[in-house]
Amino acid sequence: MPCIMRKHLITSALPYINGVKHIGNLVGSMLPADVYARFLRQNSGEVLFICGTDEHGTPAEIAAEEAGKDVREYCDEMYETQKSIYEKFGLSFDYFGRSSAGSNKEITNEIFLALWNNGYIIEKSIRQYYSIDDGRFLPDRYLEGTCPVCKYSRARGDQCDGCGALLNPEELIDPVSAISKSKNIELRETKHLFLDLSKIEGKVDEWVSLHDKWPDVVKGIAKKWINEGLKSRCITRDLKWGINVSLYEYSDKVFYVWFDAPNAYIGITKDWSESVGRPEEWKEWWTPCDEKKVSYTQFMAKDNVPFHAIFWPAMLFAANLGFKQVDYIKGFNWLTYDKGKFSTSQKRGIFTDSALKMFDPDYWRYYLIANCPEGDDSDFSFSHFASIINKDLCDVLGNFATRVLALLEKHFDSAIAVDLREKGNIDEHLLKNVCKHVDEIEENLDSMRFRKAASSMRAFWALGNEYISEKKPWNEVKQNKCASAVCLAHCVHLLRAFAITAHPVIPFSCRNILKILNDVGGEKNIDRLSFDEAKNFQYFKPDHKVGAPQRLFEKIEDDRVKELTLEFDGRC
Ligand code: MF3
Ligand code: ZN
Repeated sequence: MPCIMRKHLITSALPYINGVKHIGNLVGSMLPADVYARFLRQNSGEVLFICGTDEHGTPAEIAAEEAGKDVREYCDEMYETQKSIYEKFGLSFDYFGRSSAGSNKEITNEIFLALWNNGYIIEKSIRQYYSIDDGRFLPDRYLEGTCPVCKYSRARGDQCDGCGALLNPEELIDPVSAISKSKNIELRETKHLFLDLSKIEGKVDEWVSLHDKWPDVVKGIAKKWINEGLKSRCITRDLKWGINVSLYEYSDKVFYVWFDAPNAYIGITKDWSESVGRPEEWKEWWTPCDEKKVSYTQFMAKDNVPFHAIFWPAMLFAANLGFKQVDYIKGFNWLTYDKGKFSTSQKRGIFTDSALKMFDPDYWRYYLIANCPEGDDSDFSFSHFASIINKDLCDVLGNFATRVLALLEKHFDSAIAVDLREKGNIDEHLLKNVCKHVDEIEENLDSMRFRKAASSMRAFWALGNEYISEKKPWNEVKQNKCASAVCLAHCVHLLRAFAITAHPVIPFSCRNILKILNDVGGEKNIDRLSFDEAKNFQYFKPDHKVGAPQRLFEKIEDDRVKELTLEFDGRC
């Protein structure tokens, strides 16, 4: 594998603090990032997987206001809520931090001052909406109106949820204050800071062009921005909640949330570094002596791509502080819900907290990875969900495990009755097939082809059922007990191989499989079991006892599907 011996830095887009996220957020960033991180930890050693909450900006202020809480208090609570949900989903962050932490204040101002000193910041007087009734300026999200592009009536000042267009507040038709809904608003002069992106455009263009292996959705978005020409972007806002600008004249303003949020990848790495008692170690990830030593992969949904493929890299180039740039951006399309949009504000779709109450996390993990919106948008429905879980997890993987354990219990008192290390006992044909499947799964995970990775896992599990159906150990046991024991010993090893290779996607079930197999060492170290180990069919010694048969997955019945479909019909 080409990635061996490199350090892998992985970040997933920082979820906004403004509420519990839906499963669309999970599949577009954190979950595939986790699968990749787990895969690399098992196979190539050093991984650092960083995430955290994105806490500044108007979405946080608005959510806090709605909850009747002080914004800091709201963020403290929501941080804990989100963190615990992600833990329950098995997301194996090395550190889950916060963009509002001191570390991000430091790094953001350091980057800002470098940009200032390098001549990339310009001051401009702009006209901004001021709400007379609310007694304040109304930045981006505090404005609502009709989208000039698609005529959606509840577009925000910065972006339209109807068509996704990025907007300037002045473009909104019939704008009102989102706080009071007052129309009593007027444009007033106010001074702001802008990042002059035109000066760094050539460098960004050249750098983007070097990355021809990025997914089409990422390249397409990046090229579109470059082709349209990079303009200066306002990086300050008239808000209280945020990172204060470290220039006296602007100290009553804060940085725009997208100016500070990506810097938090670095800030959170610093916090991780502190937390493990090696406060200087973050530098090995962000300012390595040899750029190539660290391979940096980012995960995100497509609406985040302009910020990660263009604006943040532009900031880092312009600041010239030597921070590592991203090597690979894994961008995702949308997961839709019954053909419509998931929406946090309209409470449409399935939220991560209720998802956990419905089904085990591995059901979600498997389904979402097998159907992630990789090449195109993909659609969620409960009937599709149930059919995938019932087929793949119950009928293919679960059924194989139950059959093997039941046969072993019935005929061999749950013990492995042969020694596969003895000459001639290994089924070379099966082993060759196993190697092929393991390599395929490995290649798909290594190249982050998640849907294919799931289908190659499913094909591997099917091999188990084919093997046992062909060998029929239940018949053999009458005539040739030894042959039947040999077959079942292979089956137990197959189960172990399934557990090792599916662990990045369904970690809870895989650990459970090793537990049932009484593989104490494996169960403890599954996080580090390399895929090569899955090819080892001489692992279990004769007389090794496995556990009693048990069902790994429960089928989802039609009635339950109907019930959930009704319950989540556009509302939550
Ligand atoms: N909070 C943003 C979102 O959920 C993502 C921010 S990614 C960042 O869409 F790293 F840049 F913070
Ligand atoms: Zn629109």
